[in-house]
Amino acid sequence: MGTGRRPLVAGNWKMNGLRAHLALVGEVRAGYDPGLARSVDLLVCPPATLLHAVAEAARGSGIAVGGQDAHPLAAGAFTGDLSAEMLADAGASHVILGHSERREGHAETDALVREKAFAAIRAGLVPVICVGETLAEREGGRAIAVVTGQIRGSVPDDARPDRTVVAYEPVWAIGTGRTPTVADVAEMHAAIRAELAARMGGGAEDVRILYGGSVKPGNARELLAVENVDGALVGGASLVAADFLAIARAADRS
Ligand code: 13P
Repeated sequence: MGTGRRPLVAGNWKMNGLRAHLALVGEVRAGYDPGLARSVDLLVCPPATLLHAVAEAARGSGIAVGGQDAHPLAAGAFTGDLSAEMLADAGASHVILGHSERREGHAETDALVREKAFAAIRAGLVPVICVGETLAEREGGRAIAVVTGQIRGSVPDDARPDRTVVAYEPVWAIGTGRTPTVADVAEMHAAIRAELAARMGGGAEDVRILYGGSVKPGNARELLAVENVDGALVGGASLVAADFLAIARAADRS
């Protein structure tokens, strides 16, 4: 964890959550006590159908709310899509972009992710730009090259460092219970920081770089202690308030 960057623990609910599950937000809110809130930022990214309700449930708590994707344009004839402006209107302050489940399942390219990040900035949202290598890329020794290439292609030139979040999520670690070694995480996060510095100069120190992929209460402390790991992007464990809060407490370095 570098100096000056507040840890951010973000929950990605993915395609999970009905109105019946909104109590989860109340439970997270109840556990986000002033001591924790002083040192760790929380972000909850529900499915878009729940954005407004989650934003209402989180109002005044300091818990930020985010979307999981956004179309590059502000409005138009794009059936089924949502714009960054719509997410902001529903109460979002952040948006996850380029998650591997969208890069793979929806054929999203770096260029498209960058356009979406432009859109987020236009709408006043903080983009959470996801990168990460596949198992074949890691085993082929190409992980660093792939991920730094994704950073080059996906992060807009005019991104404001203090309003930009990058999430490193190795594809093979998502939902599998497998995580990279601490040494591999340290190497990758340092490489991402260096790539950002080449783009942004000294401001790159302000970008928060999250680790994601099978983060659980049992491994969070170890992963979050790694240099240049400024928080976590949590999938499955974010659907259990006690687990999400335990991960948030593991991020507290105060
Ligand atoms: P899991 O924590 O379920 O592995 O998911 C990680 C993820 O994809 C968060 O965006």
